[in-house]
Amino acid sequence: MTMKRVIHLCLLMAAGGLWSCSGSQQTTAPKGSVSIIPMPASVSETADSFLLDKQTVIVATNDNDKKTAALFNAWLKELTGYELAVKDQGDKNVIILETGKDTANAEGYTLTAGHDNITIKGNSGAGTFYGVQTLIQLLPVEKAKAMYVPGVNITDAPRFAYRGLHLDVGRHFFSVDFIKKYIDLMAMHKLNTFHWHLTEDQGWRIEIKKYPRLQEVASKRKETMAGRYADNKYDGKPYGGYYTQEQVKEVVKYAADHFITVIPEIEMPGHSLAALTAYPNLGCTGGPYEVGTRWGVYDDVYCAGNDSVYLFLQDVLDEVMELFPSKYIHIGGDESPKVRWEKCPKCQLRMKQEGLKDEHALQSYFIQRMEKYLNSKGRQIIGWDEILEGGLAPNATVMSWRGIEGGIAAAKQKHDVIMTPGEFCYFDHYQSRGANEPLAIGGFLPVSKVYSYEPVPTELSADEAKYIKGAQANLWSEYIGNNDYMEYMVYPRACALSEVLWSPKDKRNYDNFVDRLKVHVKRLDLKKVNYAKHVFEVTGKVTDNGKGGVDVVLNSKLSGGKIFFTTDSTAPTPSATPYTAPVSVTRTGTLRAQVFQDGKPFGNEYSQAFVYHKGLGKKVTMASIADASHRPESNFALVNGVEGNAAYNDSEWFGFKGTDMEAIVELDSIQDIHGVGINTINVKGDWIYPPKQVVFSVSDDGKTYKEIFKQNTFAQQGINKVRGKLQSVRGRFVKVQLQNFGKIPAGAAGAGNGAWLFADEFIIE
Ligand code: ACM
Ligand code: ZN
Repeated sequence: MTMKRVIHLCLLMAAGGLWSCSGSQQTTAPKGSVSIIPMPASVSETADSFLLDKQTVIVATNDNDKKTAALFNAWLKELTGYELAVKDQGDKNVIILETGKDTANAEGYTLTAGHDNITIKGNSGAGTFYGVQTLIQLLPVEKAKAMYVPGVNITDAPRFAYRGLHLDVGRHFFSVDFIKKYIDLMAMHKLNTFHWHLTEDQGWRIEIKKYPRLQEVASKRKETMAGRYADNKYDGKPYGGYYTQEQVKEVVKYAADHFITVIPEIEMPGHSLAALTAYPNLGCTGGPYEVGTRWGVYDDVYCAGNDSVYLFLQDVLDEVMELFPSKYIHIGGDESPKVRWEKCPKCQLRMKQEGLKDEHALQSYFIQRMEKYLNSKGRQIIGWDEILEGGLAPNATVMSWRGIEGGIAAAKQKHDVIMTPGEFCYFDHYQSRGANEPLAIGGFLPVSKVYSYEPVPTELSADEAKYIKGAQANLWSEYIGNNDYMEYMVYPRACALSEVLWSPKDKRNYDNFVDRLKVHVKRLDLKKVNYAKHVFEVTGKVTDNGKGGVDVVLNSKLSGGKIFFTTDSTAPTPSATPYTAPVSVTRTGTLRAQVFQDGKPFGNEYSQAFVYHKGLGKKVTMASIADASHRPESNFALVNGVEGNAAYNDSEWFGFKGTDMEAIVELDSIQDIHGVGINTINVKGDWIYPPKQVVFSVSDDGKTYKEIFKQNTFAQQGINKVRGKLQSVRGRFVKVQLQNFGKIPAGAAGAGNGAWLFADEFIIE
């Protein structure tokens, strides 16, 4: 500690009227104030601390560091109202930015904060930038008279090179200002790739000068779906928007200043209805077409037999490459039906001429032809995992979205992979089961599940694992129609993803993450982010108590929160039962719980209806395994007393794609059985059909079964509660068999595919 510094500290303290100053007394930041997301690779705290004040100087000697200094100043100004001088030298009360040239580990940095100075040494401009992002998170989160930075030694570098966030601007358009904020927040979380999904069936959003009808026609739609897909209702309001090339340049530059690469996506051959509407000659039938107004997948795609299509796309990509310096161009490739190609003479001729055995091979031809073009211009392609079908283009990177299988297959073929499996990375899914949740596309992806994601599949060898370049969360915007809702869907799930992608695997700890998140959300408050608050609400976990019964474990991560609950359906208040231990389910009814802070309720309450029955918590064996995308954590979900909900987003339903279901529950002894039941669901718009037939049977020994109840007619919509009342039936093993509906009929959504069969809660009375 130098004298100069002591004096300056004392003056500040006196001015603040907080403490008196006695000699060379050491001052420190409050303990436990290091709360960084994503968690750095290595942090050690020291007893020292740095006092940042108006006299502190940033030392930056090159343009990059000066730019980074300016971004730091922008944050500081928002927080304190003042900025720091940026100079070429200084050694006391300084923040020193230095940038080296370690290309092998370019995004890494070291940060040391001591009494006299803070030094950030980046391995490259990006590393220095990330060091500054860390410094921002070492500052107090609220405006303080004394801005102490705790003494630390940090050595940091990312685990994965590709750390992405996607945004679908096709279904809904988002302004340039919003996208800049999106980029600010990405940078704050050390995410480095923005995947801009620019073209869709429902709208083309990038100006292409050679094709003005993309602006005039393809960027607009007549109306938009209102509410749930299955309701098939429309709002009657014209909708549109696109980015001019000047705006695109502005975004790309803004992103580059934040060390974020923008990867544009131009979808082909599917998701192209808007473009076909503008240029109908590019489709197999020649149209007329109409820019999409409903969500989902459309049969009309670019004609693969028509050379004008390739020329059009090359022209488009020429303009796109002028705007985007990224090494990668995303060319889609997902969800491209083959029905038009099957009937199109041009497509069939192309298949014959090129010796392609089926339409999947034709899609592969399409993608490879575009890849060749982009490679000739020095660019690489990324495509969704459908590009594996019919043969992978030689240099393609695969984005694995339909689970992890595409990623595994591509890595085994020595192709680079970005993981975006729906189960962990689709932020358009629900993040809470709360009844007040705004309408979302489906699924259930709470923050904790994002946090639990491991991008490297265990199926890969260490050599193959090197092809997993990272992961990305996708924000499909069918149901996400405005800025506030978008931010609500992205944060804090993106905070969790950032840690998955940046921090060492062995440093990850969810409870510790949530503790840091409590501090971190104040930074989001400062940026006026409409983040979701579910992580701090009361949660309930329905558990197998191991004694043939069901317990509910309640929890809340809210600072100073106290949980109270009721089991008589009344609203929980601070005079209800305080929660001290797991609550056992002993009768049919609803458990309601709420966390309170200073006597006031916080967030949604937990409310769960339970059906009490003989099968509760008993052993379940399944003859068939549910599809991974709709498979609860364990078979226990079938007998946990919780009936799957109508939105099927509660991890209760067992979903079977085109296959049957069979389950057996084993009771403790042979006993009287008065009734059996199971629920199924019917949402044909989502390809979920009722079973053809449900059969229950019983057995004393688990070998010989006798049929006791059968049903083969079901309600036309929503949840079907199949219930059989029984007399004089005894048994120990109860079996249920549900026969899948089979192929989805022509004319219906998903026609020709195997129907989904959903079942939950096997009730035995
Ligand atoms: C996708 O979700 N269709 C890539
Ligand atoms: Zn065709």
